[in-house]
Amino acid sequence: MSGPGRFITIEGLEGAGKSSCLDFVRSHLAAAGHPPLMTREPGGTPLAEAIRELLLDHRFAGMDVSTEVLLVFAARAEHLSKVIRPALARGEWVVCDRFTDATYAYQGGGRELGADRVAALEAWTQGELRPDLTVLLDVPVSIGRDRASQRGAPDRFEVERDAFFERARTAYLAQAEAEPERVHVVDASLPVKSVQSQLERILDAFLGRNERG
Ligand code: TMP
Repeated sequence: MSGPGRFITIEGLEGAGKSSCLDFVRSHLAAAGHPPLMTREPGGTPLAEAIRELLLDHRFAGMDVSTEVLLVFAARAEHLSKVIRPALARGEWVVCDRFTDATYAYQGGGRELGADRVAALEAWTQGELRPDLTVLLDVPVSIGRDRASQRGAPDRFEVERDAFFERARTAYLAQAEAEPERVHVVDASLPVKSVQSQLERILDAFLGRNERG
């Protein structure tokens, strides 16, 4: 566990439905007596949000993969020390829109950096800290792309080819297979109601474990 508080992360490809899932998770936890601090990655502090802008900016289309992954972890170090760790130490519940599973997916898988390099930076930046619960909203790449294309201008990741997102999805699912206790997969290709009932089951089971523990 991450200390007195609880650390929950929400993951998935673009167009998986993270925003409505985050709203649902927030209100469900609040109703259960744990109104969470909501935050996101890359970002969550002024410096980490500035790093986010660099990561998403098309001016840096040819960014070196090592530069990219180091920027991701630089933002994460800042976010952890200024926001996430202090909140957990105060006993708060924290819900983060993406975290290190996204680095395994996008840099480890999508950019083909491999899991070992990500794991080394994870150990350096996070020490023992891992999410207590991760919800992975899984959608086929084509469905996610269709949904995401209805939003505004694509960022530096959204313009990647399908093969990039296929590798990212495979890496996400590998994380879920490796850590089934922590990472719970939701079939996000289903209608919203069904996604919500899957989420409700996962959250209620987690809440139950925490009441007992
Ligand atoms: P968002 O779409 O959730 O706002 O995230 C911004 C982008 O950042 C998204 O395309 C995924 C990417 N990203 C990484 O490549 N690695 C990471 O570790 C994180 C947290 C996000």
